[in-house]
Amino acid sequence: MHQRSISTPVPPTNDEALSRHHRDPEPWVWWKHGVVYQIYPRSFLDTDGDGIGDLAGITEKLPYLANLGVDAIWLSPFYPSPMVDFGYDVADYCDVDPLFGTLEDFDRLVAAAHEVGLKVIVDFVPNHTSDQHPWFAEARTSRNNPKRDWYVWRDAKPDGGLPNNWQAYFGGPMWSWDETTRQYYLHSFLPQQPDLNWHNSEVRAAMFDALRFWMARGVDGFRVDVINQVMKARSLADNPPNPVRNPRIKDMGDYAAQLHVNDQGHADLKYLIQEFRSVVDDYPGGERVVVGEIHEDDLGVWASYYGENGGGLHLPFNFGLLESSRAHWQPDELRAHVAGIESASVGKGWPNYVLGNHDEHRVSTRVGEAQARVAMMMLLTLRGTPTLYYGDEIGMVNVPISPELARDPWGLRVPGMELGRDPERTPMQWTPGRNAGFTYGPEPWLPLATDCATVNVEKESSDPRSMLSLTRALLRMRRREPALHRGSYDPIEVDKDGCFAFVRAYGQRRFLVALNMRSSTVVLRLPGRGSGAVALSTVASESVGRLVDCSAINLQPDEGLVISLAEITSSR
Ligand code: GLC
Ligand code: MG
Repeated sequence: MHQRSISTPVPPTNDEALSRHHRDPEPWVWWKHGVVYQIYPRSFLDTDGDGIGDLAGITEKLPYLANLGVDAIWLSPFYPSPMVDFGYDVADYCDVDPLFGTLEDFDRLVAAAHEVGLKVIVDFVPNHTSDQHPWFAEARTSRNNPKRDWYVWRDAKPDGGLPNNWQAYFGGPMWSWDETTRQYYLHSFLPQQPDLNWHNSEVRAAMFDALRFWMARGVDGFRVDVINQVMKARSLADNPPNPVRNPRIKDMGDYAAQLHVNDQGHADLKYLIQEFRSVVDDYPGGERVVVGEIHEDDLGVWASYYGENGGGLHLPFNFGLLESSRAHWQPDELRAHVAGIESASVGKGWPNYVLGNHDEHRVSTRVGEAQARVAMMMLLTLRGTPTLYYGDEIGMVNVPISPELARDPWGLRVPGMELGRDPERTPMQWTPGRNAGFTYGPEPWLPLATDCATVNVEKESSDPRSMLSLTRALLRMRRREPALHRGSYDPIEVDKDGCFAFVRAYGQRRFLVALNMRSSTVVLRLPGRGSGAVALSTVASESVGRLVDCSAINLQPDEGLVISLAEITSSR
């Protein structure tokens, strides 16, 4: 497949950006060398007092994001939607829900983002529409409606039973009965989210037109929702039982009891993704990125989504750090994971890492506040594009939501399993003032954290020890140093349990990253690695500049260090 060269320079926005280009001889590829920041629009900033964040709120905070030092924003869905799954049930792919604003607001957002040097990635939800989408409304009018085949319909079994054993991700069977036309329709998630039939060429054409619609409005890329689920086996054959329950979805009952071989990961997906890529590549006006949401534990299969000759996804999401942070958070496991990603992606594509999103409990809650700082250092120093979740830069934690206030349909549908995603979707904490500066209205759509008087952007901006100051410093260093945004990755075998260490190098510049993942002090002995100076510490900002001899590196409890190594000179 034809590959375009990728060399769009980022327009410099300030002195720092200028100096970056001055120091970095190679082309800056924003989606590889930059950092992506995910915004959940409902929860970022509300400018009209209805308690729900909006596009104008995002536009207002773009200078904050540019100053934070990220390079691109990814917006979770803002399309017209009945909001049963908070926008992941799209009723019109080519408009803005009035809750969030208008298309004009969107245009203003894109223009303002570009002005401050930020790229804009939008969420694209191809697997399913809302049941309120006009396509589905038409499709369900009769069995021979022209849009009927845009969705997946089946008769009941002769005994009246379901067409097959497939289970919806959000609980219950994947089939719901349509009384008017007396057939079942398929939905991988909620019954209000009927799956599109991607085997149908009209569906593909209509959905690709939606991509063009947003590209014409200046977007720089797409984050594609559950891309590996969009095609199902035409046979609709039963899924076989799963002999080993997937630990990631261990709480998911019948869903985890099956191997999802017939309802996802279809062999033709690679052609579909290629087609998707060409629609994006062929659209004039700059380099765009296609990121895909894929939960795939087999790294060989994961890497296959880069496609042949890089003609697939630019960035198949890699949730490995996230998985690890919700389970053991063990250095050995992380080292092995990164090694796996490094080797699986060789010759295929550029790695990427993520530690939080709108579907996962907050990283600060999963690993604790001290380790969240170590985790941030890890995320922003590994080789590969990092994606940051809004609020993680200030150390937001899960906010407990009482049952009366719970909103997430998953949690409500499968009660008692703590599957609800509200705790990680609470309003961004901007100021110590009323409603944390999120809304001037009476009430935010989800409750605010109780710590918002101290954990907020305003307070943390003036505190050099805050999570925000650490994140900012890491982002600046990553941007400034080619070793960190494009350099090689070399794992280090350490002599101490509980530590994860690696070197990033580019040209003469080398950085040792040493992460103490335990809450006790350690001395890490790395003889032969020379010496260096502390460039950043997660616990002690005053130690920056301190000289370090790598034969004995003192790490405080929960301390991560980035050490700028001296050039190796041949020993006398
Ligand atoms: C993806 C989204 C999630 C959504 C689901 C159904 O997993 O990240 O938020 O509920 O798809 O669209
Ligand atoms: Mg609002």
